[in-house]
Amino acid sequence: MRTQVAIIGAGPAGLLLGQLLHKHGIDNIVLERHTGEYVLSRIRAGVIEQVAVDLIDEAGVGARMHREGLVHDGTQICVDGVRHRIDFKELTGKTVMVYGQTEITKDLMDGRAAAGAQTVYTAEDVALHDIFADQPRVTYRADGKVHEIECDFIAGCDGFHGISRQSVPADAISSYERVYPFGWLGLLSDTPPVSEELIYVRHRHGFALCSMRSPTRSRYYIQCSLAEDVHAWPDERFWDALKPRLDAQARERIVTGPSIEKSIAPLRSFVGEPMRFGRLLLAGDASHIVPPTGAKGLNLAASDVRYLSEALLEHYQEKSAAGLDHYSARALARVWKAERFSWWMTMLLHTFPDSMFDRKMQLAELDYLFGSRAAATAFAENYVGLPF
Ligand code: FAD
Ligand code: PHB
Repeated sequence: MRTQVAIIGAGPAGLLLGQLLHKHGIDNIVLERHTGEYVLSRIRAGVIEQVAVDLIDEAGVGARMHREGLVHDGTQICVDGVRHRIDFKELTGKTVMVYGQTEITKDLMDGRAAAGAQTVYTAEDVALHDIFADQPRVTYRADGKVHEIECDFIAGCDGFHGISRQSVPADAISSYERVYPFGWLGLLSDTPPVSEELIYVRHRHGFALCSMRSPTRSRYYIQCSLAEDVHAWPDERFWDALKPRLDAQARERIVTGPSIEKSIAPLRSFVGEPMRFGRLLLAGDASHIVPPTGAKGLNLAASDVRYLSEALLEHYQEKSAAGLDHYSARALARVWKAERFSWWMTMLLHTFPDSMFDRKMQLAELDYLFGSRAAATAFAENYVGLPF
Protein backbone atom coordinates (compact mmCIF):
# COMPACT_ATOMS: atom_id res chain seq x y z
CA MET A 1 0.00 0.00 0.00
CA ARG A 2 1.03 3.58 -0.52
CA THR A 3 -0.24 6.82 0.96
CA GLN A 4 1.06 10.35 1.45
CA VAL A 5 0.68 10.50 5.26
CA ALA A 6 0.42 7.41 7.49
CA ILE A 7 -1.28 8.43 10.74
CA ILE A 8 -0.75 6.26 13.81
CA GLY A 9 -3.66 6.49 16.31
CA ALA A 10 -7.38 7.25 15.91
CA GLY A 11 -7.71 9.55 18.93
CA PRO A 12 -8.70 13.19 18.46
CA ALA A 13 -5.23 14.18 17.12
CA GLY A 14 -5.06 11.46 14.45
CA LEU A 15 -8.67 11.77 13.30
CA LEU A 16 -8.60 15.57 13.18
CA LEU A 17 -5.36 15.57 11.18
CA GLY A 18 -6.75 12.92 8.82
CA GLN A 19 -9.90 14.94 8.21
CA LEU A 20 -8.05 18.21 7.54
CA LEU A 21 -5.59 16.55 5.15
CA HIS A 22 -8.35 14.68 3.34
CA LYS A 23 -10.24 17.93 2.82
CA HIS A 24 -7.22 19.34 1.00
CA GLY A 25 -6.75 16.25 -1.15
CA ILE A 26 -3.83 14.79 0.81
CA ASP A 27 -4.19 11.03 0.96
CA ASN A 28 -3.83 9.40 4.39
CA ILE A 29 -4.44 6.12 6.21
CA VAL A 30 -5.14 5.94 9.97
CA LEU A 31 -3.89 2.87 11.89
CA GLU A 32 -5.48 2.24 15.30
CA ARG A 33 -4.55 -0.50 17.73
CA HIS A 34 -8.02 -0.80 19.33
CA THR A 35 -11.57 -1.10 17.98
CA GLY A 36 -13.59 2.06 17.30
CA GLU A 37 -15.97 1.10 20.14
CA TYR A 38 -13.09 0.88 22.58
CA VAL A 39 -11.74 4.31 21.55
CA LEU A 40 -15.23 5.77 22.13
CA SER A 41 -15.57 4.13 25.54
CA ARG A 42 -12.72 6.13 27.10
CA ILE A 43 -14.26 9.07 28.93
CA ARG A 44 -11.76 11.92 28.91
CA ALA A 45 -11.82 15.61 28.06
CA GLY A 46 -14.81 17.90 28.38
CA VAL A 47 -13.66 21.50 27.87
CA ILE A 48 -12.78 22.75 24.41
CA GLU A 49 -11.03 26.04 23.60
CA GLN A 50 -12.10 28.26 20.73
CA VAL A 51 -9.02 27.15 18.77
CA ALA A 52 -10.21 23.54 18.87
CA VAL A 53 -13.80 24.55 18.08
CA ASP A 54 -12.55 26.44 14.99
CA LEU A 55 -10.49 23.47 13.83
CA ILE A 56 -13.36 21.02 14.26
CA ASP A 57 -15.48 23.41 12.16
CA GLU A 58 -12.74 23.61 9.55
CA ALA A 59 -12.66 19.81 9.43
CA GLY A 60 -16.37 20.01 8.56
CA VAL A 61 -17.67 18.08 11.57
CA GLY A 62 -18.77 20.90 13.92
CA ALA A 63 -22.55 20.88 13.35
CA ARG A 64 -23.53 18.63 16.27
CA MET A 65 -21.02 20.32 18.58
CA HIS A 66 -22.72 23.69 17.94
CA ARG A 67 -26.16 22.15 18.50
CA GLU A 68 -25.39 20.17 21.64
CA GLY A 69 -22.26 21.78 23.15
CA LEU A 70 -22.63 24.17 26.09
CA VAL A 71 -20.93 27.57 25.86
CA HIS A 72 -19.46 28.61 29.22
CA ASP A 73 -18.67 32.27 29.96
CA GLY A 74 -16.84 31.55 33.21
CA THR A 75 -15.85 29.02 35.84
CA GLN A 76 -16.19 28.72 39.59
CA ILE A 77 -13.51 27.93 42.14
CA CYS A 78 -14.51 26.81 45.62
CA VAL A 79 -11.93 27.22 48.38
CA ASP A 80 -12.67 25.53 51.70
CA GLY A 81 -16.43 25.86 51.23
CA VAL A 82 -16.55 29.39 49.71
CA ARG A 83 -17.29 29.77 45.99
CA HIS A 84 -15.72 32.40 43.70
CA ARG A 85 -16.29 33.04 40.00
CA ILE A 86 -13.92 33.95 37.17
CA ASP A 87 -15.74 35.56 34.26
CA PHE A 88 -13.82 34.65 31.07
CA LYS A 89 -16.07 36.64 28.80
CA GLU A 90 -15.81 39.85 30.76
CA LEU A 91 -12.05 39.51 31.27
CA THR A 92 -11.00 38.25 27.82
CA GLY A 93 -14.05 38.46 25.53
CA LYS A 94 -13.73 34.70 24.99
CA THR A 95 -15.63 31.60 26.14
CA VAL A 96 -15.07 27.81 26.18
CA MET A 97 -17.25 24.98 24.89
CA VAL A 98 -18.26 22.01 27.04
CA TYR A 99 -18.57 19.03 24.69
CA GLY A 100 -17.17 15.58 25.40
CA GLN A 101 -14.07 14.16 23.73
CA THR A 102 -16.14 11.03 23.04
CA GLU A 103 -18.60 13.10 21.00
CA ILE A 104 -15.82 14.88 19.09
CA THR A 105 -14.21 11.53 18.32
CA LYS A 106 -17.54 10.11 17.16
CA ASP A 107 -18.19 13.14 14.91
CA LEU A 108 -14.70 12.76 13.42
CA MET A 109 -15.17 9.02 12.89
CA ASP A 110 -18.52 9.64 11.15
CA GLY A 111 -16.94 12.39 9.02
CA ARG A 112 -14.09 10.09 8.04
CA ALA A 113 -16.46 7.27 7.11
CA ALA A 114 -18.60 9.68 5.04
CA ALA A 115 -15.48 10.93 3.21
CA GLY A 116 -14.51 7.34 2.41
CA ALA A 117 -11.05 7.72 3.97
CA GLN A 118 -9.37 4.54 5.17
CA THR A 119 -8.99 3.62 8.85
CA VAL A 120 -7.60 0.28 9.95
CA TYR A 121 -8.86 -0.64 13.43
CA THR A 122 -7.30 -3.43 15.56
CA ALA A 123 -3.99 -2.98 13.71
CA GLU A 124 -1.50 -5.04 15.72
CA ASP A 125 2.27 -4.67 16.08
CA VAL A 126 2.45 -1.33 14.29
CA ALA A 127 6.13 -0.62 13.53
CA LEU A 128 7.83 2.44 12.02
CA HIS A 129 10.75 2.02 9.58
CA ASP A 130 13.27 4.37 7.93
CA ILE A 131 11.94 7.54 9.57
CA PHE A 132 15.06 9.45 8.52
CA ALA A 133 14.82 8.33 4.85
CA ASP A 134 12.77 9.97 2.06
CA GLN A 135 10.28 7.10 1.92
CA PRO A 136 9.51 5.84 5.40
CA ARG A 137 7.33 2.75 5.90
CA VAL A 138 4.89 1.45 8.45
CA THR A 139 4.12 -2.23 8.97
CA TYR A 140 1.29 -3.79 10.96
CA ARG A 141 -0.51 -7.07 11.41
CA ALA A 142 -4.21 -7.54 10.65
CA ASP A 143 -6.26 -10.65 9.83
CA GLY A 144 -3.18 -12.77 10.55
CA LYS A 145 -1.14 -11.06 7.79
CA VAL A 146 1.64 -8.48 7.83
CA HIS A 147 0.86 -5.35 5.78
CA GLU A 148 3.22 -2.58 4.69
CA ILE A 149 2.45 1.07 3.90
CA GLU A 150 4.95 3.24 2.04
CA CYS A 151 4.48 6.93 2.69
CA ASP A 152 6.02 10.42 2.55
CA PHE A 153 5.43 11.20 6.25
CA ILE A 154 4.38 9.42 9.41
CA ALA A 155 2.23 11.35 11.90
CA GLY A 156 2.66 9.84 15.38
CA CYS A 157 -0.71 10.59 17.04
CA ASP A 158 -0.77 7.47 19.21
CA GLY A 159 -0.88 8.96 22.69
CA PHE A 160 1.53 8.77 25.60
CA HIS A 161 1.98 4.96 25.51
CA GLY A 162 2.15 4.73 21.70
CA ILE A 163 4.87 3.26 19.54
CA SER A 164 5.83 6.43 17.63
CA ARG A 165 7.84 8.23 20.31
CA GLN A 166 9.37 4.89 21.34
CA SER A 167 10.64 4.43 17.78
CA VAL A 168 12.91 7.45 18.01
CA PRO A 169 16.60 6.86 18.89
CA ALA A 170 17.04 7.57 22.62
CA ASP A 171 19.76 10.17 22.02
CA ALA A 172 17.54 12.15 19.62
CA ILE A 173 14.92 13.09 22.22
CA SER A 174 15.05 15.04 25.50
CA SER A 175 12.33 14.25 28.02
CA TYR A 176 11.10 16.47 30.85
CA GLU A 177 8.71 15.02 33.38
CA ARG A 178 6.90 15.56 36.67
CA VAL A 179 4.76 12.84 38.21
CA TYR A 180 2.29 13.97 40.90
CA PRO A 181 1.68 11.88 44.03
CA PHE A 182 -2.07 11.42 43.36
CA GLY A 183 -4.65 10.65 40.68
CA TRP A 184 -8.22 11.59 39.81
CA LEU A 185 -11.10 9.20 40.36
CA GLY A 186 -13.82 10.16 37.85
CA LEU A 187 -17.51 9.26 37.82
CA LEU A 188 -20.01 9.83 34.99
CA SER A 189 -23.73 9.77 35.80
CA ASP A 190 -27.03 10.60 34.12
CA THR A 191 -27.91 13.24 36.70
CA PRO A 192 -28.31 17.01 36.15
CA PRO A 193 -25.08 18.94 36.85
CA VAL A 194 -24.90 20.58 40.26
CA SER A 195 -24.07 23.99 38.73
CA GLU A 196 -24.40 25.69 35.35
CA GLU A 197 -20.63 26.19 35.34
CA LEU A 198 -17.76 23.90 36.29
CA ILE A 199 -16.69 24.09 39.94
CA TYR A 200 -13.01 23.46 40.71
CA VAL A 201 -12.75 22.64 44.41
CA ARG A 202 -9.81 23.09 46.74
CA HIS A 203 -10.45 21.42 50.09
CA ARG A 204 -8.28 19.99 52.86
CA HIS A 205 -9.67 16.49 52.09
CA GLY A 206 -8.39 16.92 48.53
CA PHE A 207 -9.26 18.43 45.15
CA ALA A 208 -12.63 17.86 43.48
CA LEU A 209 -14.18 18.94 40.18
CA CYS A 210 -17.86 19.19 39.24
CA SER A 211 -18.11 19.06 35.46
CA MET A 212 -20.72 17.99 32.94
CA ARG A 213 -21.41 16.65 29.48
CA SER A 214 -24.97 17.94 28.97
CA PRO A 215 -27.88 19.36 31.01
CA THR A 216 -28.66 15.78 32.07
CA ARG A 217 -25.21 14.20 32.35
CA SER A 218 -22.59 15.04 35.00
CA ARG A 219 -18.91 14.28 35.35
CA TYR A 220 -17.33 14.48 38.81
CA TYR A 221 -13.74 13.92 39.91
CA ILE A 222 -12.05 13.59 43.30
CA GLN A 223 -8.35 13.54 44.11
CA CYS A 224 -7.34 10.04 45.20
CA SER A 225 -4.26 8.10 46.13
CA LEU A 226 -2.37 6.39 43.29
CA ALA A 227 -2.75 3.12 45.18
CA GLU A 228 -6.57 3.22 44.90
CA ASP A 229 -8.42 0.45 43.11
CA VAL A 230 -11.52 1.67 41.28
CA HIS A 231 -13.38 -1.49 42.39
CA ALA A 232 -13.01 -0.37 45.99
CA TRP A 233 -15.18 2.67 45.14
CA PRO A 234 -18.87 1.77 44.97
CA ASP A 235 -20.94 4.82 43.93
CA GLU A 236 -22.04 5.59 47.51
CA ARG A 237 -18.45 5.84 48.67
CA PHE A 238 -17.67 8.27 45.82
CA TRP A 239 -20.61 10.57 46.64
CA ASP A 240 -19.76 10.42 50.35
CA ALA A 241 -16.21 11.53 49.61
CA LEU A 242 -17.27 14.29 47.17
CA LYS A 243 -20.02 16.01 49.17
CA PRO A 244 -17.98 17.26 52.16
CA ARG A 245 -15.58 19.00 49.74
CA LEU A 246 -18.38 21.15 48.24
CA ASP A 247 -19.90 24.40 49.52
CA ALA A 248 -23.21 24.21 51.42
CA GLN A 249 -25.33 25.24 48.42
CA ALA A 250 -23.78 22.66 46.10
CA ARG A 251 -24.00 19.98 48.77
CA GLU A 252 -27.70 20.66 49.13
CA ARG A 253 -28.36 20.83 45.40
CA ILE A 254 -26.31 17.89 44.11
CA VAL A 255 -28.32 15.04 42.58
CA THR A 256 -26.56 11.70 42.96
CA GLY A 257 -27.34 8.54 41.03
CA PRO A 258 -25.81 5.37 39.63
CA SER A 259 -22.54 5.74 37.73
CA ILE A 260 -22.31 4.84 34.06
CA GLU A 261 -18.50 4.95 34.12
CA LYS A 262 -15.82 5.20 36.77
CA SER A 263 -12.05 5.32 36.26
CA ILE A 264 -8.78 6.50 37.80
CA ALA A 265 -6.31 8.69 35.89
CA PRO A 266 -2.79 9.38 37.17
CA LEU A 267 -1.53 12.98 36.89
CA ARG A 268 1.62 13.71 34.95
CA SER A 269 3.44 16.55 33.21
CA PHE A 270 5.68 15.42 30.34
CA VAL A 271 7.31 16.95 27.27
CA GLY A 272 9.52 15.14 24.76
CA GLU A 273 11.55 17.50 22.56
CA PRO A 274 11.68 17.95 19.59
CA MET A 275 8.42 16.93 17.90
CA ARG A 276 9.97 16.11 14.52
CA PHE A 277 12.44 13.31 13.72
CA GLY A 278 13.17 13.20 9.99
CA ARG A 279 9.85 12.24 8.43
CA LEU A 280 8.16 11.34 11.71
CA LEU A 281 6.08 14.14 13.23
CA LEU A 282 4.57 13.71 16.69
CA ALA A 283 1.32 15.41 17.75
CA GLY A 284 -0.83 15.44 20.90
CA ASP A 285 -0.25 13.14 23.87
CA ALA A 286 2.37 11.19 21.86
CA SER A 287 4.64 14.17 22.46
CA HIS A 288 3.42 15.77 25.69
CA ILE A 289 1.10 15.21 28.65
CA VAL A 290 -0.46 17.71 31.02
CA PRO A 291 -2.34 16.98 34.25
CA PRO A 292 -6.06 17.47 33.43
CA THR A 293 -6.53 20.33 35.92
CA GLY A 294 -6.16 23.05 33.27
CA ALA A 295 -8.29 21.18 30.66
CA LYS A 296 -5.49 21.55 28.14
CA GLY A 297 -4.61 18.05 26.77
CA LEU A 298 -7.08 17.76 23.93
CA ASN A 299 -6.71 21.44 23.16
CA LEU A 300 -2.96 21.07 22.75
CA ALA A 301 -3.52 18.06 20.49
CA ALA A 302 -5.75 20.33 18.38
CA SER A 303 -3.22 23.16 18.24
CA ASP A 304 -0.43 20.73 17.24
CA VAL A 305 -2.67 19.43 14.47
CA ARG A 306 -3.32 22.95 13.27
CA TYR A 307 0.42 23.66 12.94
CA LEU A 308 1.09 20.23 11.44
CA SER A 309 -1.71 20.31 8.87
CA GLU A 310 -0.60 23.79 7.76
CA ALA A 311 3.00 22.54 7.44
CA LEU A 312 1.98 19.51 5.36
CA LEU A 313 -0.21 21.69 3.13
CA GLU A 314 2.75 24.02 2.56
CA HIS A 315 4.87 21.00 1.64
CA TYR A 316 2.39 19.57 -0.87
CA GLN A 317 0.82 22.74 -2.29
CA GLU A 318 3.67 25.28 -2.19
CA LYS A 319 6.60 22.84 -2.28
CA SER A 320 7.96 24.66 0.79
CA ALA A 321 9.74 22.93 3.69
CA ALA A 322 9.47 25.99 5.98
CA GLY A 323 6.35 24.85 7.87
CA LEU A 324 7.76 21.39 8.54
CA ASP A 325 11.12 22.83 9.56
CA HIS A 326 9.43 25.16 12.07
CA TYR A 327 6.71 22.74 13.23
CA SER A 328 8.47 21.57 16.37
CA ALA A 329 9.52 25.01 17.61
CA ARG A 330 6.12 26.58 16.88
CA ALA A 331 4.15 23.80 18.56
CA LEU A 332 6.47 23.57 21.59
CA ALA A 333 6.22 27.30 22.30
CA ARG A 334 2.48 26.83 22.89
CA VAL A 335 2.92 23.44 24.60
CA TRP A 336 5.25 24.80 27.29
CA LYS A 337 2.86 27.62 28.19
CA ALA A 338 0.01 25.13 28.59
CA GLU A 339 2.36 22.90 30.62
CA ARG A 340 3.04 25.84 32.91
CA PHE A 341 -0.63 26.67 33.38
CA SER A 342 -1.63 23.02 33.99
CA TRP A 343 1.20 22.52 36.50
CA TRP A 344 0.32 25.80 38.26
CA MET A 345 -3.39 24.95 38.54
CA THR A 346 -2.53 21.47 39.80
CA MET A 347 -0.21 22.87 42.49
CA LEU A 348 -2.83 25.47 43.43
CA LEU A 349 -5.79 23.18 44.02
CA HIS A 350 -4.55 19.76 45.21
CA THR A 351 -3.63 18.58 48.68
CA PHE A 352 0.03 17.65 48.93
CA PRO A 353 1.26 15.51 51.77
CA ASP A 354 2.94 17.19 54.73
CA SER A 355 3.67 20.72 53.60
CA MET A 356 2.12 23.51 55.64
CA PHE A 357 4.27 26.05 53.80
CA ASP A 358 2.87 24.94 50.42
CA ARG A 359 -0.63 25.12 51.85
CA LYS A 360 -0.05 28.73 52.92
CA MET A 361 1.32 29.52 49.46
CA GLN A 362 -1.83 28.06 47.85
CA LEU A 363 -4.07 30.20 50.04
CA ALA A 364 -2.05 33.35 49.34
CA GLU A 365 -2.12 32.65 45.60
CA LEU A 366 -5.89 32.04 45.66
CA ASP A 367 -6.49 35.21 47.67
CA TYR A 368 -4.50 37.14 45.08
CA LEU A 369 -6.42 35.46 42.21
CA PHE A 370 -9.80 36.51 43.63
CA GLY A 371 -8.62 39.97 44.71
CA SER A 372 -6.76 41.15 41.63
CA ARG A 373 -8.30 41.77 38.23
CA ALA A 374 -4.84 41.33 36.68
CA ALA A 375 -4.43 37.88 38.26
CA ALA A 376 -7.97 36.83 37.29
CA THR A 377 -7.34 38.02 33.72
CA ALA A 378 -4.13 35.98 33.53
CA PHE A 379 -6.07 32.92 34.69
CA ALA A 380 -8.91 33.51 32.22
CA GLU A 381 -6.54 34.17 29.31
CA ASN A 382 -4.79 30.85 29.88
CA TYR A 383 -7.97 28.86 30.54
CA VAL A 384 -9.75 29.98 27.34
CA GLY A 385 -6.53 29.29 25.40
CA LEU A 386 -3.57 31.47 24.50
CA PRO A 387 -3.51 32.94 21.00
CA PHE A 388 -1.47 31.29 18.25
P1 FAD B 1 -5.17 9.71 22.54
O1 FAD B 1 -6.55 10.21 22.80
O2 FAD B 1 -4.47 8.97 23.62
O3 FAD B 1 -5.25 8.80 21.24
C1 FAD B 1 -4.18 7.98 20.82
C2 FAD B 1 -4.72 6.79 20.04
O4 FAD B 1 -3.61 6.02 19.55
C3 FAD B 1 -5.55 5.86 20.91
O5 FAD B 1 -6.79 5.59 20.29
C4 FAD B 1 -4.68 4.61 21.04
O6 FAD B 1 -5.46 3.42 21.15
C5 FAD B 1 -3.89 4.64 19.75
N1 FAD B 1 -2.62 3.90 19.85
C6 FAD B 1 -1.77 3.83 20.90
N2 FAD B 1 -0.72 3.04 20.61
C7 FAD B 1 -0.90 2.60 19.35
C8 FAD B 1 -0.15 1.76 18.50
N3 FAD B 1 1.00 1.20 18.91
N4 FAD B 1 -0.62 1.52 17.26
C9 FAD B 1 -1.79 2.08 16.83
N5 FAD B 1 -2.55 2.89 17.61
C10 FAD B 1 -2.10 3.15 18.84
N6 FAD B 1 -8.00 17.58 27.67
C11 FAD B 1 -8.64 18.76 27.43
O7 FAD B 1 -8.26 19.49 26.50
N7 FAD B 1 -9.71 19.18 28.19
C12 FAD B 1 -10.17 18.43 29.22
O8 FAD B 1 -11.16 18.81 29.85
C13 FAD B 1 -9.48 17.18 29.53
N8 FAD B 1 -9.88 16.39 30.53
C14 FAD B 1 -9.28 15.18 30.74
C15 FAD B 1 -9.71 14.39 31.79
C16 FAD B 1 -9.10 13.17 32.03
C17 FAD B 1 -9.58 12.33 33.19
C18 FAD B 1 -8.05 12.71 31.18
C19 FAD B 1 -7.41 11.36 31.42
C20 FAD B 1 -7.61 13.49 30.14
C21 FAD B 1 -8.20 14.72 29.90
N9 FAD B 1 -7.78 15.57 28.88
C22 FAD B 1 -8.39 16.78 28.68
C23 FAD B 1 -6.67 15.14 28.00
C24 FAD B 1 -7.13 14.54 26.68
O9 FAD B 1 -8.05 13.50 26.89
C25 FAD B 1 -5.93 14.03 25.86
O10 FAD B 1 -4.95 15.02 25.84
C26 FAD B 1 -6.32 13.63 24.44
O11 FAD B 1 -6.98 12.40 24.42
C27 FAD B 1 -5.10 13.52 23.52
O12 FAD B 1 -5.48 13.08 22.24
P2 FAD B 1 -4.48 12.25 21.34
O13 FAD B 1 -5.24 11.97 20.07
O14 FAD B 1 -3.18 12.93 21.27
O15 FAD B 1 -4.20 10.90 22.14
C1 PHB C 1 -14.09 16.98 32.25
O1 PHB C 1 -15.26 17.42 32.13
O2 PHB C 1 -13.83 15.79 32.09
C2 PHB C 1 -13.02 17.92 32.67
C3 PHB C 1 -13.28 19.27 32.73
C4 PHB C 1 -12.28 20.15 33.12
C5 PHB C 1 -11.04 19.66 33.45
C6 PHB C 1 -10.77 18.30 33.37
C7 PHB C 1 -11.77 17.42 32.98
O3 PHB C 1 -10.07 20.52 33.86
